[in-house]
Amino acid sequence: MNIIIAENYADMSEIAAGIIAKTVIEKPNAVLGLATGTSPIGTYKKLIEYYNNKLISFKNAHTVNLDEYVGLPEEHEQSYHYFMRDILFNHIDVKPENVHIPCGLGDDLEANCRGYERILKQNPTDLQLLGIGSNGHIGFNEPHTPFKSYTHIVELTERTRHDNARLFGFVGSVPKQAITMGIVGICHAKKILILASGSNKADAVHDMVCGDISEHCPASILQLHSDATLVVDKEAASKLDESAISQSV
Ligand code: GLP
Repeated sequence: MNIIIAENYADMSEIAAGIIAKTVIEKPNAVLGLATGTSPIGTYKKLIEYYNNKLISFKNAHTVNLDEYVGLPEEHEQSYHYFMRDILFNHIDVKPENVHIPCGLGDDLEANCRGYERILKQNPTDLQLLGIGSNGHIGFNEPHTPFKSYTHIVELTERTRHDNARLFGFVGSVPKQAITMGIVGICHAKKILILASGSNKADAVHDMVCGDISEHCPASILQLHSDATLVVDKEAASKLDESAISQSV
């Protein structure tokens, strides 16, 4: 894994936006795998800045998001559909028909999962942006999700629901289930870009980079990816072994 230690959140965001911008410049019709959460917000702001300065365009790009809560309508302020429109899509020239986010609504969620797998097959991801949960989850693939998982419905752990409660006001309003791209879909991306900032991510970052490759830490599978880059601020990198940093390629 290539590891880039950033000074702080702003620095991390600028480095990550640079990597994504390069992908879109080199391949204007790139498929970008996008993530929600606090980690990528600064990156998205930078990309909007580059777009406004006419340095990049998303008019031929396609996007596939990682996940969505089950049961939240798209207009709900905490849905990932709303988040993506609010934080990114409303501010750039990506075509709505080229945007894909898993659907957590309806009576047949298994059909939604199968439908999303078809979308992923039609849109092989060039670059997958990821955050990491404090328990090592990627997307909403919680600890002990089989590495061979495809898009599926997940029961969120109490830890994840507590982590995300800050956005909902209180934990009782955080949905108990989500639909998420599986580990297989994530790892199929040609390039993976992982963001982590803050001391509450230090253990997860350590386990992802230096720990055993184990379903206990879903992100640890990324050690096996041939082109994975971690951009991490100093606090989140604080528990990394020196050897992991110096061996980083
Ligand atoms: C959320 C999302 C993940 C995200 C992670 C970290 O629950 N499902 O895709 O990467 O948790 O979130 P944050 O960046 O806010 O710490």
